[in-house]
Amino acid sequence: MPMIIQRFLIAVASFLIVGLLAATGRFSLPPESAALKTRPGVELANSQCLLCHSADYISTQPRLSTAQWRSVVVKMQTKYGAPVATNQIDNLADYFARNYGVRAATNTAPAAK
Ligand code: HEC
Repeated sequence: MPMIIQRFLIAVASFLIVGLLAATGRFSLPPESAALKTRPGVELANSQCLLCHSADYISTQPRLSTAQWRSVVVKMQTKYGAPVATNQIDNLADYFARNYGVRAATNTAPAAK
């Protein structure tokens, strides 16, 4: 049998096997459990800050002061093009400082259930 047909059959077979494993639940992606803390301001943070990176990525940063969080938010806006409205910068800095800052009781994301 010509090489090209052989390759095609192998590709189809692998595709079917992966599909079968997925259907039987033996092959699945890890659950998306990391989320920002559900405290006042979380909707804003979710909509502005999770476009480019995960909640984990933000929540595992060192604890920062409000001023430092503010400069992170400004950096995201000016350097990386985050669509943050200028009048929301303080609200975002406040959310992160309260929940992931030096003022926060814990810097970890809520445990996955
Ligand atoms: C347009 C995409 C984009 C959006 C939206 C965005 N970021 Fe980022 N963020 C980045 C990039 C790119 C980096 C740098 C990644 C790297 O250095 O590997 C980064 C890095 C970070 C870091 C790591 C520390 C640092 O200063 O580099 C933090 C913390 C962070 N972002 C927080 C936020 C927060 C809070 C928001 C919401 C206000 C946000 N990001 C929105 C693109 C974005």
